[in-house]
Amino acid sequence: MDDLDALKTELIGEVSAAADLDALEQVRISALGKKGRITDLMKGLGQMSADERKEAGQALNALKGHINDALNARKSEMEGAGIDARLEAERVDVTLPPRPEATGSIHPISQTIDEVVSIFGEMGFTVAEGPDMEEDWYNFTALNIPADHPARQEHDTFYLNAEKDGQRMVLRTHTSPVQIRTMQKQKPPIRIIVPGRTYRCDHDATHSPMFHQVEGLVIDEKTHMGHLKGCLNDFFRAFFGLQDLPVRFRPSYFPFTEPSAEVDIGCSFESGTLTIGRGDDKGTGDWLEILGSGMIHPNVLENCGIDSTKYQGFAFGVGIERLAMLKYGIPDLRTFYDSDYRWLKHFGFAGLDVPSLVGRAAV
Ligand code: FA5
Ligand code: MG
Repeated sequence: MDDLDALKTELIGEVSAAADLDALEQVRISALGKKGRITDLMKGLGQMSADERKEAGQALNALKGHINDALNARKSEMEGAGIDARLEAERVDVTLPPRPEATGSIHPISQTIDEVVSIFGEMGFTVAEGPDMEEDWYNFTALNIPADHPARQEHDTFYLNAEKDGQRMVLRTHTSPVQIRTMQKQKPPIRIIVPGRTYRCDHDATHSPMFHQVEGLVIDEKTHMGHLKGCLNDFFRAFFGLQDLPVRFRPSYFPFTEPSAEVDIGCSFESGTLTIGRGDDKGTGDWLEILGSGMIHPNVLENCGIDSTKYQGFAFGVGIERLAMLKYGIPDLRTFYDSDYRWLKHFGFAGLDVPSLVGRAAV
């Protein structure tokens, strides 16, 4: 009790030396906490005579008030400094210059879809659409792929939690379910194309988990395989604008078509570029599969209430990314979805580059 002035000087020194809020709190505890130095001295008041207690009590209270004031002053000083530091560090730079490009560009996927729609539009096809989240029945069963059919596994399906008729819904694995939706609504003759997104657990330089297809469907009387081949050949000629395009119709299998064919385009992936060229008939190049096709299976027509003894038809499903890769020489499919500004600038199209067959050679 003799040297309260010395204690005061010492504590004030500690307060001003505290480097941050934590250190300041330690000073407060050591002086005013339960076992703090001033608290200890207060406890000693009980043993004093009444006169002593009065004097010492006043002195201790004054000291306590003094230290409290010093602590509070230092604390708000520190908090203020913290805010100042944040204001300094977090300043928004409103002078950030705008992106150098004032105009955007059309993504090659959109451009390719527009071109395909435009070519088939000239041939009398209309555009149909269907949902990305599809019922099992439309994606598989109605297409002659029953519940236990091995072809379901080939589709590496993304299943959803929602159910319809006791079956889990799916992200559609192809645009073919829109064939069914259209045949249920429309009487033949039918001539539609269906551009849209499709999904599969698949990921490498020529496969993406989300990609695009354009489905084609023609239903009429007396439709045959020659129509299928002629229609697709006309499309290739218009789309690629090449007379000697190497095209290969390869026998294949789809549960919803019979017979079925897949189509490959001859190309080369050599030295990181993709060019259309002669396929492996000369042992020099590769083939890139671009579509599946075939004559509609009678079961599919009957599933949609169409008389399969009167009507026939053909269908095809073409991969949009694959078409774009071949036409515009894009060797890796994954780059379509990287959103790399330089890539978009290089492969994108001007907004007014509207695809049209007017002025081109007749289809
Ligand atoms: C089908 O999806 C059938 N629905 C096509 C069809 C329609 C056949 C109508 C008969 C009648 P396939 O799984 O082969 O078939 O896919 C068709 C095309 O989509 C392929 O040729 C390819 O160009 C493209 N494709 C398939 N999977 C991917 C993928 N993961 N990434 C990018 N393109 C793909
Ligand atoms: Mg295939």
